Amino acid sequence: MMPLHPGQVHIWLFPFTQVDDAGLLARYEPLLSPLERACQQRYYFEKDRRRYLCTRALERFVLSEYTHVPPMQWKFERNAYGKPEISRSHHPGIPPLRFNLSHTDRFIACAVTLENDIGVDIEQMNGQIDVMGIGSHYFSSQEKNDLEACAPLTRQENFFELWTLKEAYMKARGLGLQIPLDAVTISHNGNQLLLSFSPACPDAPERWQLHHYRLKHSCALSFAVAASKSIKPQQVLMTKCIPFLSIAPVQHLLLYRT
Ligand SMILES: CC(C)(COP(=O)(O)OP(=O)(O)OC[C@H]1O[C@@H](n2cnc3c(N)ncnc32)[C@H](O)[C@@H]1OP(=O)(O)O)[C@@H](O)C(=O)NCCC(=O)NCCS
Repeated sequence: MMPLHPGQVHIWLFPFTQVDDAGLLARYEPLLSPLERACQQRYYFEKDRRRYLCTRALERFVLSEYTHVPPMQWKFERNAYGKPEISRSHHPGIPPLRFNLSHTDRFIACAVTLENDIGVDIEQMNGQIDVMGIGSHYFSSQEKNDLEACAPLTRQENFFELWTLKEAYMKARGLGLQIPLDAVTISHNGNQLLLSFSPACPDAPERWQLHHYRLKHSCALSFAVAASKSIKPQQVLMTKCIPFLSIAPVQHLLLYRT
């Protein structure tokens, strides 16, 4: 079993489009509950059905790495805003695992920790998007000013840094769009991230640890975890995983953290 200690964060990355083995995909199918199967079938495009299948396979495989629960036996619940959690009533004796998922067209990310609320967001940095236009809708005035002030060449990276960090925080809270996006401000001082809240989002910055990473293939990844003590880089383990096939370390670069 994989050890996971309090204060550690494990990030699992599944490059799911690399799976071209029909036998492996067929192995994922029986893992789906009847409800999950129905959800999968609601997707119109095959690529979306496949991503859904691979997401379910990753969450089940990963969580089983920490317990004796077989992948097929996991039971999940979603809160009123859609955040999935392990059903405690079905799994009373297991460690207090918390997790969160995010997907792009290329990767599925699963962040795991003990006890604390956690959120993860992964985005493919795409040169086509109007960063100032989107930022003007979702970012706080300080974030908009910071984005405007940065050099055009780094603006896109700064946008994705902010976007994934804000999204990771929102996902850790699990309240969906109940929190106004511009009520959370993220800035940095050198490599250190600073978090602040307006009265529309009453929260304490010292409750949160945020990390932002750059991965291969122009991917930006952030996580937010409700931990009072700083999460040191060595407490974060990042692993590339193809469920039931391979597990390997993944190259990543920590750019900023609280
Ligand atoms: C629900 C929401 C979190 C999904 O985000 P997304 O970018 O479309 O998708 P991601 O790939 O990052 O994450 C999807 C996964 O998040 C998880 N999720 C769903 N609702 C969630 C919630 N309320 N809180 C946390 N996680 C949630 C699910 O596991 C989902 O995957 P699944 O349905 O396959 O299990 C998003 O719509 C949302 O409410 N975001 C909050 C604020 C926001 O829009 N921020 C923009 C950045 S500034």
